[in-house]
Amino acid sequence: MTKNITFLGIETSCDETAAAVIRENDNGTADILSNIVSSQISEHKKFGGVVPELAARAHLENIEFIINTALDKSKISLDEMDGIAATAGPGLIVCLTVGLNIGKSIATFSNKPFIGVNHLEGHALSPGLETKIDFPYLLLLISGGHTQYLIVKNVNQYEQLGTTIDDALGEAFDKTAKMLDLGYPGGPSVEKFSKLGDENFFTLPEPIISRAGCNLSFAGLKTAVLRESKKLNGNIKMKYNLAASFQNTINKILYKKTKIAVKIFKEKTNNNNVKLIVAGGVAANKTIRKNLTKLSQEMDFETFYPNEKFCGDNAAMIAWAGIKRFKMKLIDNTDVSAKSRWPLDKAAPYMKGPGLKL
Ligand code: KG4
Ligand code: ZN
Repeated sequence: MTKNITFLGIETSCDETAAAVIRENDNGTADILSNIVSSQISEHKKFGGVVPELAARAHLENIEFIINTALDKSKISLDEMDGIAATAGPGLIVCLTVGLNIGKSIATFSNKPFIGVNHLEGHALSPGLETKIDFPYLLLLISGGHTQYLIVKNVNQYEQLGTTIDDALGEAFDKTAKMLDLGYPGGPSVEKFSKLGDENFFTLPEPIISRAGCNLSFAGLKTAVLRESKKLNGNIKMKYNLAASFQNTINKILYKKTKIAVKIFKEKTNNNNVKLIVAGGVAANKTIRKNLTKLSQEMDFETFYPNEKFCGDNAAMIAWAGIKRFKMKLIDNTDVSAKSRWPLDKAAPYMKGPGLKL
């Protein structure tokens, strides 16, 4: 019998300081031996968004404690670990460097293999923590920095089908929350207050909805929310109507664009057996889950949503991606450096900036 692989994972790409110890089990999924996440919500709340220098300082202050807590809770010593994985990008360089450097140091002094994980691969493989899902699958990755449809062909093999040409979906939620003064963090606040509003009250734009395949755009929607927010005159009911209408518009966009992505997936993979995985922080949103489940029933495909604790940033998914890469012998040197931009599909066109043609 082969030994079950165990990894320590470390994540500091944005505003969560996280460490986890994960062991692959005999079912091919993960035993979560520990999963510690320290959120910096209180640090960034008064600014209504993540302040990179504050985030880096908080990571520095917390990281050692978080790693020690994860190790203690797992009851696994560094000696028993098969390797160490830390997020190497994409993200804020000042933040990434904290987790990456400590991960590399631990690997060096404990003489263990080191893997610098792409945070997006962490999200992409995160469903595997709980459920064994065969490749290929269609991934809708929706987070604070990214919004993409991808074919996940295998570990380290991705084909991008579509992406946002401007804001990420999480960013659109966060900016809407800020414009409407709904509180921080933005996504969960918009979801919460939308329940109090009429989602059909405002008709808002669905940018590039009938062109550009499954590429997405949210900037025009955000501008429309800003314009309407200036006419609210402190009317609380109307504010909730606007939040609800924003969320409803997002759901209409995701419904239509996912429909296109499923068709493209079928054509490209020659496979009618579609599994859609929705991952990343925004995948915690219950209305989005309900909306895409409805589409899956209409189009007859399967959906899978990771447990909420694995949607937002966490180190369990980083350790898991480390295990998967380790098993494929995709091991890094400790000279791997932090990267602010690191697409999963290196051949995908860069979709932002002037001159973009759709
Ligand atoms: O994956 P994540 O934790 O960090 C990044 O990799 O960016 O995603 C964070 C994003 C934030 O924009 C946050 O507002 C959003 O996920 N988010 C949500 C919800 N929970 C978190 N957006 C909408 N509804 C939610 N319930
Ligand atoms: Zn993330």
